[in-house]
Formats: sequence, structure tokens, C-alpha cells
Amino acid sequence: MKSIFITGASSGIGEHLSYKYSQKGITLGLSARRIDELNRVKAKCEELGATVFIYQLDVNDNVATKNAIEDFSSKNKSLDCVIANAGIGKTENIMSGDSSFINGIIQTNILGVTNTLIPAIPIMVKQKFGKLVAISSVASYIPTPNNSGYSASKAGVRMLMDGFRFKLTPHNIKCITICPGFVDTPIVSKTRSTPMMLTVESGAKKIANAIGRNKKTFIFPWQYKIILPLLKIIPDWLILKYLK
Ligand SMILES: NC(=O)c1ccc[n+]([C@@H]2O[C@H](COP(=O)([O-])OP(=O)(O)OC[C@H]3O[C@@H](n4cnc5c(N)ncnc54)[C@H](OP(=O)(O)O)[C@@H]3O)[C@@H](O)[C@H]2O)c1
Repeated sequence: MKSIFITGASSGIGEHLSYKYSQKGITLGLSARRIDELNRVKAKCEELGATVFIYQLDVNDNVATKNAIEDFSSKNKSLDCVIANAGIGKTENIMSGDSSFINGIIQTNILGVTNTLIPAIPIMVKQKFGKLVAISSVASYIPTPNNSGYSASKAGVRMLMDGFRFKLTPHNIKCITICPGFVDTPIVSKTRSTPMMLTVESGAKKIANAIGRNKKTFIFPWQYKIILPLLKIIPDWLILKYLK
């Protein structure tokens, strides 16, 4: 892959995926809202040899995101890979009677993905190849009392990708869904219990490997492949005990 567009590149997984891909001959399109952080990541990627274009945008803005994808594509011979990584995860309070908070999570995490990936589809169809990647989560399989909006958004992302795959496989476009467990980034800094948490470097390495191998759905760390099916038979009271 020579040209890769990544959302949420200003910190965490997106930042470290950017470093992972950085080398001579690679062009990166890095986007996020915080321009200072993007410039910091850009400088390090350039030190590692990559050519970098940055795009300050909010993934909720479909026009700005489409323009950025098209601009990045126009600067490259092809658009090889788009990684919809930007996301938010905050503890909700459904007892407040106000739906705006949970709606904001669902909007950024689902519409942010569609706003990012869909503009790349006609470009990839025309060039007859490409990879679309979405960062979901193991939370997409786990109902939780205080993060139901987050879990629902990540389940939505997984389902979108499963549908896109049917449509896009005949066009030689790979649709890859990544479902990480806990990875040590700012998004989990306030989470009390983070079992089996990976360093961000290790998480980014696993994600890049899965993208390289065209995994349809990649769940990590591996222990979740055992734990997730068990959740279907574990009683609610036990789930609540651990997920409060
Ligand atoms: N860390 C984990 O344990 C874990 C586990 C499973 C899944 N994930 C998923 O992995 C992805 C990356 O998260 P992370 O762990 O790396 O957390 P992070 O360090 O907080 O990174 C989130 C990134 O998303 C960007 N972002 C958030 N809202 C945005 C918006 N409206 N428009 C544009 N960019 C936006 C942020 O940049 P700006 O603030 O500069 O815009 C930041 O670069 C997320 O989708 C998250 O849900 C993380």
C-alpha cells in the first residue's frame, strides 16, 4: 500500500498506525480536528520517511470529509487504503432524560465512518482495487450499562462493513473491520477496569498486520474469541457485576 488516508490520526491508535506505515514511498493523508496534534504527528511521520498531507476536519461534516478524501486521492496515483478510525467513547447518562449526549456518540462513531468510507468507494471502484477499514470494538459484542451508545455505534459499524463487503468484493475492494479490546490511549484513560490492555504500539502493530492480511473481522487480543461467545450464556447479573 502506498497511499493511506487515516481519520483520528492526532492521537492513540490513528497516530501510531501513522507511524507504523511511515516509510519512504508512502503517502499518508492524516485527519482530525486538532491541527497542532496533527502537525506533531506529521513531523514524526516525515522523519520516518513518509510524505504527509494533513486535513483538519470533523468527521461529522460529510462535505469536508469527502473533499479531503478526494483531494488526497488527486495527489496520488491511486487511493490504496482508507482507515475510518476516528471515534469517541464517553460514559453516558440515560437517566438525565436528554438524548443529545448518546446521540453525539452514535453520530460520530457511525456517521463518521460512512462520511469517511463512502466517498472512497467510487474512486476505488474506478481503479479496481482498494481497502476500506473501520475501527469497531469488542464492545460491539458486549452490552454495557453505561456505554450502550458506544457499543451500539460499534455494532452498527461492524454491520455496515459486513454489508459493504457483499457489494464491494466483486470490485476487488476489501472491507476490513477491526475489533480491539482495551488499547492504552486517551479514550480509556478514565476507564476504571481495563483487563488485557495492550500498549498502543502493540495494538497498532496488530491492526496493521490484520489489514495486511485482509482479515474480514479481526478481534484482539485473542482471548476475546473465547470470552465473547460465552457472554451469550452468562446471566445479566454477572455481566453487571463486572461492567458497572
Ligand atoms: N483504545 C481502545 O481501548 C479502543 C478499543 C476499541 C476501539 N477503539 C476505537 O479506536 C478508535 C481510535 O481511538 P483511540 O483509542 O485511539 O482514542 P483517542 O486517542 O481518543 O483517538 C481518537 C481520535 O479520533 C479523533 N476524533 C474524535 N472525534 C472526532 C471527530 N468528530 N472528527 C474528527 N476526528 C475525531 C481524535 O482527534 P481530534 O480530537 O483531534 O479530532 C483522535 O485522533 C476509536 O474509534 C475507538 O472507538 C479504541
